[in-house]
Amino acid sequence: MARDEISFDEYDEHINPAPETTDFDGVVETALSRRGFLGGVMAFGAGTFVLGTTALSTPASASVDRFGFEQVSANTLDTITVPDGFEWKPVALWGDPLWSDVPEFDEATRGTAATQARAFGDNNDGMSVFNQHGKTVMVVNNEYTNRKLLWGNRPDAKPANSDDIEKGMMAHGVSVFQVAPKGDGWTIMKDSDLNRRITPRTEMELTGPAAGHELMKTAADPTGTKTLGTWNNCGNGETPWGTYLACEENFNGYFSAADEAHSVSTELKRYGVSSNDWGYGWAQVDERFDVSKNPNEPNRAGYVVEIDPFDPTSTPKKRTALGRFKHENAEVVIAANGRVVVYMGDDERGEYLYRFVSNGIYTPTGSTEGLLDDGTLYVAKFNEDMTGEWLELTPDTTGMSQAEICIHTRMAASKVGATTMDRPEWVAANPAKAEAYVALTNNKNRGVKPNAGGDDTSANAVNPRVENHYGQIARWVPDAADHTANGFMWDLYALAGNPEVHDDVYGGSDNINAGNMFNSPDGLVFDSNGLLWIQTDGNYSDADGFAGMGNNQMLVGDTVTGEIRRFLVGPKECEVTGMCWAPDRRTMFVGIQHPGEKSGSNFPHGGDALARSGVFAISRTDGAIIG
Ligand code: FEO
Ligand code: CA
Ligand code: CA
Ligand code: CA
Repeated sequence: MARDEISFDEYDEHINPAPETTDFDGVVETALSRRGFLGGVMAFGAGTFVLGTTALSTPASASVDRFGFEQVSANTLDTITVPDGFEWKPVALWGDPLWSDVPEFDEATRGTAATQARAFGDNNDGMSVFNQHGKTVMVVNNEYTNRKLLWGNRPDAKPANSDDIEKGMMAHGVSVFQVAPKGDGWTIMKDSDLNRRITPRTEMELTGPAAGHELMKTAADPTGTKTLGTWNNCGNGETPWGTYLACEENFNGYFSAADEAHSVSTELKRYGVSSNDWGYGWAQVDERFDVSKNPNEPNRAGYVVEIDPFDPTSTPKKRTALGRFKHENAEVVIAANGRVVVYMGDDERGEYLYRFVSNGIYTPTGSTEGLLDDGTLYVAKFNEDMTGEWLELTPDTTGMSQAEICIHTRMAASKVGATTMDRPEWVAANPAKAEAYVALTNNKNRGVKPNAGGDDTSANAVNPRVENHYGQIARWVPDAADHTANGFMWDLYALAGNPEVHDDVYGGSDNINAGNMFNSPDGLVFDSNGLLWIQTDGNYSDADGFAGMGNNQMLVGDTVTGEIRRFLVGPKECEVTGMCWAPDRRTMFVGIQHPGEKSGSNFPHGGDALARSGVFAISRTDGAIIG
């Protein structure tokens, strides 16, 4: 089956399926036993589920409305819909030049490798804004490329030559550019000396425990410490010392084997590497993507990459201490004791939620050298009694060396009995109190088959629904309000669902109703008021179990009352992902990714225009602060 015929995140599994389970009896037994610990499943509508307004929060006065906007209705329009009193404008679209010697985006040709390498990349995802000396710099991940659109000027939307393949490669990576207010919007400052494109060919340094290990060495880099580029950067993070974290997610989909007899190792299979790529063709222009010739090359991807946004000559660093998996974002918290805590999800069905704790202490005036290289990695276990624990990944607990733990992190996590999760996407930590939230986007395999490592994925307390197409948002409060504590209490903030279609657990939790329903929570970001912004990347059919949900969207959650209100609806066939604020917080920047991924959108220009991903500025028409 061609990649284009199924969704992006299903393709991985299609080419490298996890083992089928035949233990149907076990699945049924698990589903039934859930009633034992949840107790309230049958009384679900009565609000007795392990939710929101119970264990971990204190309900506030119902009369207080912290949102400041009226909910927008779900819709399937090919535009951005925001509440009355708000407006939106494009800031950067796929192919927009970052330098004035680059031609404007050409819909007929979609540019060349050379122009794309100096223009905003495709399919923007996580992003941050940094300020220094009066300059505002936007750093944006360009996760992947819409090949149907990128090569839509070619027969069958297939690359016609090596420049087409290289153009696709250059559409990946990270875009760094200065922005400034212009008119009543924001614009790219072309030719700023801070502008930079980081691509799959940018030189990077491997740091931390895995650097220099045998598994990291290749013919081109016998030291195992220098690698080229980053790609498939999904969510992001930022450090208090002013650097940007780009998180490598589906890095596997770019490798292939020219030698058809080549057998991919068990370790690479756990990460979804196979003899076939996902259609990008990179091995045709760069041999390092051929795993039959360079079997260690995939070990050099799947990390968190630290980038200095104010030094375009700096070498980005792949921080192997933060583990290797399909990273979603990296939520950095400075714990009360000064240690750097990084929460990270591994977005794959039945994979895990992680935490890194630095050995060193962060101080605003001290050195930050080594803080993300030296520390301990943990994986989460959620117990049925609403407690949880962070399990250490060390040579003692895993039987693996520290370097191996950082390279084969999934295998390490499987060894310690962590909780298999429903695709952990973004983690967001509340700036107002010691608690964190994770979007568990969906998992059709929950209770159906094990993960790619053979780990059991029966329904469990925090992932309670088999064949979970809707997703949920879980949260935890660390013991003693200390993010470095190994124990925590948890509950579910929201179970997404469709209460118009289902009258059981698939109808969602009490804070989900016909007016605000959604599926597949993905991006999670707290604003300065302690409100939780929720972005979705799910089924936009608006039919059957998803009827009434419309296009992908962005909502806001009040974490105290549990209320969730829809703020924005994206255009057709997009996901809404990535958000940050201008320095004065009068503008919010929001990412629209892959509009028209099935060729059904002309956003944002309308008419016959090519659909383009982009960053959009949202502001209030009265100029007041948002978020
Ligand atoms: Fe790129 Fe997990 O989303
Ligand atoms: Ca995502
Ligand atoms: Ca997603
Ligand atoms: Ca995406």
